[in-house]
Amino acid sequence: METITQPAEMSAWSEQTRRTGQSIALVPTMGFFHEGHLSLMRFAAARADRLVVSLFVNPIQFAPGEDLERYPRARERDAALAAANGADILFCPEPAAMYPRDFRTTVTVAGISEGLCGRSRPGHFAGVATVLAKLFNLVQPDRAIFGEKDFQQLAVIRTLVRDLNWNIEILGHPIVREPDGLAMSSRNVYLNKDERQAALALPLSLEHARHRVGQGERRPEVLRGEINAILAAAGLRPEYIEFVDELSLQPVALVGEGTVLALAARSGATRLIDNCRFKQLD
Ligand code: PAF
Repeated sequence: METITQPAEMSAWSEQTRRTGQSIALVPTMGFFHEGHLSLMRFAAARADRLVVSLFVNPIQFAPGEDLERYPRARERDAALAAANGADILFCPEPAAMYPRDFRTTVTVAGISEGLCGRSRPGHFAGVATVLAKLFNLVQPDRAIFGEKDFQQLAVIRTLVRDLNWNIEILGHPIVREPDGLAMSSRNVYLNKDERQAALALPLSLEHARHRVGQGERRPEVLRGEINAILAAAGLRPEYIEFVDELSLQPVALVGEGTVLALAARSGATRLIDNCRFKQLD
């Protein structure tokens, strides 16, 4: 595996690779790899000739006061893991190389960036869309792979690629969970033992909702009340509990096929998200 830090060098590699007729998959990340990232890499490596993993803690998707400075970093360990999981290139630019002083452009995907996580993180998805626009242009991938845990992010990216006519296939990869059900996240390292235990209420409440929907309960307000009680009993502070359409991200009147239940809650100071999609309801 080769490590590239300069955007111009990344571009040159991609152009050369495409000229030889090889396909490129991209897994964009912010590093501190866990099994969720590694399964994205293996999934991606099996679907293209060459795999580029980008590792960039993107400053413009963090609001002031968020965890940009303390976001966990482990560059050498990450490089070894990326190499062992199929990466040909690890692209890790410095912030100043991606955002020079006179950088002025923001890409906004209006209409689906403002609700859910966007409500407490205004500007977050514009930061994500902007860095991905740059990564897509530099890497020129045939396909790019993202985890479904960040379900709103995936919807924003699909819309971005459609609207700006990039010929890039966007693939979602199912959430990877710890054996006890907690969705893997780089931010799980912030949790102490009690907060980690309390966080299990997130997957448990998704399970509860699946069970209740299976029993025939389809009213979001009823299910929301029950989930809120489960999260609160565990000591979590829910930020949102929403039943939305998987494409429009608009709230649904009744849970049906293609509805996504999306949750965000704090365990201690750590903000966690999780979701599940309902299918084949009768
Ligand atoms: O999901 C992430 O880790 C980031 O939001 C992404 C897609 C790498 C953009 O910075």
